[in-house]
Parts: sequence; structure tokens; C-alpha cells
Amino acid sequence: MKRVIAIDGPAGAGKSTVARRLAAELGYLYVDTGAMYRAMTLKVLMCGVNPADRERVAKIAQETNIALVTGPEGAPQVVLDGIDVTGRLREPAIDAAVSMVAAVPEVRERLLGLQRQLAQRGGVVLEGRDTGTHVAPHADLKVFLTASPAERARRRYRDLVAAGHRTTLDEVERDLRRRDEQDMTRAAAPLRRAPDAIELDTTGRSIDAVVEEILRYCREDA
Ligand code: DC
Repeated sequence: MKRVIAIDGPAGAGKSTVARRLAAELGYLYVDTGAMYRAMTLKVLMCGVNPADRERVAKIAQETNIALVTGPEGAPQVVLDGIDVTGRLREPAIDAAVSMVAAVPEVRERLLGLQRQLAQRGGVVLEGRDTGTHVAPHADLKVFLTASPAERARRRYRDLVAAGHRTTLDEVERDLRRRDEQDMTRAAAPLRRAPDAIELDTTGRSIDAVVEEILRYCREDA
């Protein structure tokens, strides 16, 4: 049985839903690394700092504490300097700034320590952009999820509207393209498929089917 599972891919590929379900099926801890970058971005915005100001963002990273805890109902919570901020992490202002904050090496260094600590316990599903390449290069199973740009935009748009945000499909598509570009071209731990990752295209496939396929890989002896 695989003990450390890394799920990476671009925004809207279905990573969060799949990783969360997988962790529940296996009884593993779900580690949402994107949520940690989002919490750091929230802190930057709350401090009134321009997310493009790398020096000030780096300083904030050094003074910020982020933790992942399991809430009362078993749902994962993100705690920023002692306060549960889980409900605020999907706001469009954070979507717009998170790639800039995540590109700052001091931010990545700060969060990498925590992510590696969690990975070392075993029994984890790590989800993000660099979990198979940097956080847990020795993961037992690496999956790179993709989907067509149109489908990724549709899913993200649906989630935002369901959460009560006002936006348009066009706007969402532009934001996804910009984030992909920033996440793939940054110098520090860019988004890319690990050579030993299994690539799964989720376009037109149900969550159940994708989770089932990954569970089969998890149970394979290797
Ligand atoms: O998966 P998400 O949309 O919650 O991630 C938010 C941002 O965080 C994403 O645009 C890039 C960054 N990120 C990262 O750089 N490395 C990770 N391991 C996870 C996310």
C-alpha cells in the first residue's frame, strides 16, 4: 500500500476534490499545500502590502505561522497566526495575488518545512503544484492531473458562483491562464509533471471514476 501520495496539476484540474476524497477513502491526512500559500497571501493583503513587493512579502513570511489542523467534523482547517481562516481562502482577491506570493523563495522555504514534516508522517495525500517534484520527491505514488482549459475554467466558475462571488466565465478563464503562466514559469519550484508521475486527464470524467483509478494504483504493490 502506498503511504505518501502526491497529486499535482494546474488550477481547476480537479485536484482538491480528488485528493480530499482519496484521503477520506484511505483514512489518510489531506494536506492542501495551495491553502497554505493562500493563507500567506491573505496575511500579505491584511498587512496592506503589495503582493508584487518581494522584499516585504519575504519579511512577512518569516514572521507568519501557518498550521493545518483537523477541525471538529474532521474537515481540514488552515490556521493563520492562531486564527482559523479556512473560509476566506477562496476569495477572488486571493486568487489574483497568490501566484505572486507563491513565487517568492522565502515564502516557499517557510512552507516547505511544514509540508515535509507532514509528508514524513506517512499516511498522507499531498496536493499542490510541486509536491511530487519538491515536497516529497520520494512519494510512493505521484499523479499529475490535467483537464482542458475550457473545462478547468467552467469548474472554477461554477465553484465561485456557488460560493456567492460575482464573476464571468471570461474573467475566470483569463485568471486561470495568468496563474498557469506564473506557476509554470517561476524560478522556484515551478509547476511541472515529475518524470515518474502518472498523468490523468480528468476532462469529461466523473470524480468517482478518477478516484477509483487512483485507488487502484494505490493498492498495486510496487
Ligand atoms: O491549488 P490552489 O489553487 O489552491 O493553489 C493556489 C496557488 O498556490 C497556485 O496558483 C500556486 C500556488 N501553489 C504553489 O505554488 N505550490 C503548491 N504546492 C501549491 C500551490
